[in-house]
Amino acid sequence: MNYSYLDCLSLFGVGGAHPGGLKLTKTILSREYIDQEKSILDVGCGTGQTSAYIAKKYRCSVTSLDNNPTMLKKATQRFSSLQLPIKVIDGSVEKMPHFDGLFDFILSESVTSFTDVSLTLQEFKRVLKPNGVLLAIEIVLEESLSEEELKTLVDFYGISRLLTVSDWRNLFQKAGFKQISINKYKQPLDDNDIDTSTDFSLSGNIDEKLLEILEKHEHLTKTYKDKLGYYIFRCC
Ligand SMILES: C[S@@+](CC[C@H](N)C(=O)[O-])C[C@H]1O[C@@H](n2cnc3c(N)ncnc32)[C@H](O)[C@@H]1O
Repeated sequence: MNYSYLDCLSLFGVGGAHPGGLKLTKTILSREYIDQEKSILDVGCGTGQTSAYIAKKYRCSVTSLDNNPTMLKKATQRFSSLQLPIKVIDGSVEKMPHFDGLFDFILSESVTSFTDVSLTLQEFKRVLKPNGVLLAIEIVLEESLSEEELKTLVDFYGISRLLTVSDWRNLFQKAGFKQISINKYKQPLDDNDIDTSTDFSLSGNIDEKLLEILEKHEHLTKTYKDKLGYYIFRCC
């Protein structure tokens, strides 16, 4: 069986599968005004670590969407064991249900890059309220890479292409976002806080090939650490 990088994350059940983990999520959310009246859509929710945090902390309406059945199963288990009233949707961000103008916030933590970005951003704009806010943590190409290097990364992660900051800005604008703030995520040197550590929910027997994928991911992360960056985008 050939596994993709995302299959690997789902079978290991990696929670907080984005740079900065839950700690960065908490920081980003703490800058927003969120009360019980707000509705938040956590797209590509994975195993639901962020959704569960939001529902517990803010007691607002949380909807979690993903298109990977293994992720959805693990997220649903997490929510029911914590007795959290989170709505779980099996769907793709590229074509979401009829949620027009429903959400105050969309959170996309290392998700949009894996999709057709133009389509997805149009969908985000459609399902947000007129003043709704998109919060996204995404990978950015910071220095040019050879065709071969780009192909290695694109093939491994299953993404269509790597975007620069200005590519992202243009795509957000094209989707109708007017105010776009962009900040680089700088990984703290002493980052061994419990909140940045991921949690795991393993599926049965783990195939050795999955360990190889994790190793390759670590290798690529190290190799391209000065050429790829992670950015926080706030768009409304
Ligand atoms: C790197 S993981 C991040 C998961 C989660 N946001 C987190 O931080 O732990 C990417 C997630 O996006 C989901 N995903 C990828 N493409 C998607 C799509 N088109 N629609 C919905 N979810 C998608 C994957 O299934 C996976 O759960």
